[in-house]
Amino acid sequence: MSDTLKFVRHPHPTPTPADKRAALLANPGFGRVFSDHMVTIRYSDAKGWHDARVEPRAPIPMDPAAAVLHYAQEIFEGLKAYKTADGGATLFRPIENARRFQQSAERLAMPKLPEKIFLEAIDELVNIDRDWIPDGDGSLYIRPFMFANETFLGVKPSSDYLFIVIASSVGAYFKSGADAAVSVWVSQEYTRAAPGGTGAAKCGGNYAASLLAQAEATHHKCDQVVFLDAAERKWIEELGGMNVFFVFNDGSMTTPPLGTILPGITRSSVLTLARDKGIPVREEKYSFDQWRADAKSGKLREAFACGTAAVLTPIGTVRAPDGEFVIGNGQSGARTGELKKALVDIQRGRASDPHKWIHKVF
Ligand code: PLP
Ligand code: COI
Repeated sequence: MSDTLKFVRHPHPTPTPADKRAALLANPGFGRVFSDHMVTIRYSDAKGWHDARVEPRAPIPMDPAAAVLHYAQEIFEGLKAYKTADGGATLFRPIENARRFQQSAERLAMPKLPEKIFLEAIDELVNIDRDWIPDGDGSLYIRPFMFANETFLGVKPSSDYLFIVIASSVGAYFKSGADAAVSVWVSQEYTRAAPGGTGAAKCGGNYAASLLAQAEATHHKCDQVVFLDAAERKWIEELGGMNVFFVFNDGSMTTPPLGTILPGITRSSVLTLARDKGIPVREEKYSFDQWRADAKSGKLREAFACGTAAVLTPIGTVRAPDGEFVIGNGQSGARTGELKKALVDIQRGRASDPHKWIHKVF
């Protein structure tokens, strides 16, 4: 099947006026401010990938029997476009998102969008909506997604799909800001993923399944939920929308191994940056009981969440039904700050890029 498509461009006839856009970008929060355009590509078993368009962002008409509305055959990605000092725009490791999108598609029995088309679709959107990339610490969060669009109620892989890319101007993910430590709730009752399940795929269903646990976290005044493994309810896996790292008093770090967790691109980048700095880092199981004991004994110095939306966010307080504990002094630690700076400086073009992670859009 062809891995090239011609994108037909239909620019918005009445894009958002500059003054209105500036007001929206002043304090965008996360996921509420959207740019003017979207990219759409259709797939059918008969035609393959076709009908690639850049068009005004608008509601999408759907048949009420569209398969995704019933059986949740849907996957997505998340990555950010950054404004550089020279007025350009860059993406961070977008090829990894393209690859993970293919892996998610495979797990959900969906067709694989060629990497090249995935990247072109994002470049098209960032190009046409370049004015929506905020200055300063903000970025344009790109959300590619694909869903089953066949009108059919039988349970089977759909014959038709719609791939869409939208973009949202964002600031920090957490309301408390980019550097404040967050609190987490360790769910005892609910799990996110089981061996053989979809935990490693970025499918909407995983997030639907996490919402009750996240609501429980919010009820206990926590920012995020931490999931334990489904088999033993013992090992820390990840947060609702982030991976997790632990920093010890001997300078070493641990992060849970791949398997049922989402293989985060930030996680992989932090592993590389830590190894570049000579920091010993293990991909190893770590139990909740050990986490509590190490925090209390002082062996554990820091913990942080990491992901595209969260970047690196320190974890200050850990709460569970049988009590809570504080990590370090409850604030951001030095190692978290150092690794975050190393990552963000590469993402924003302020540091050299030895691993060729930066993709220049224009
Ligand atoms: N884990 C989950 C469940 C996520 O939703 C995310 C966010 O995308 C991550 C981890 C981190 O992945 P990445 O660093 O690729 O954004
Ligand atoms: C991301 O970091 O891109 C995520 O997907 C996390 C959350 C917004 C779902």
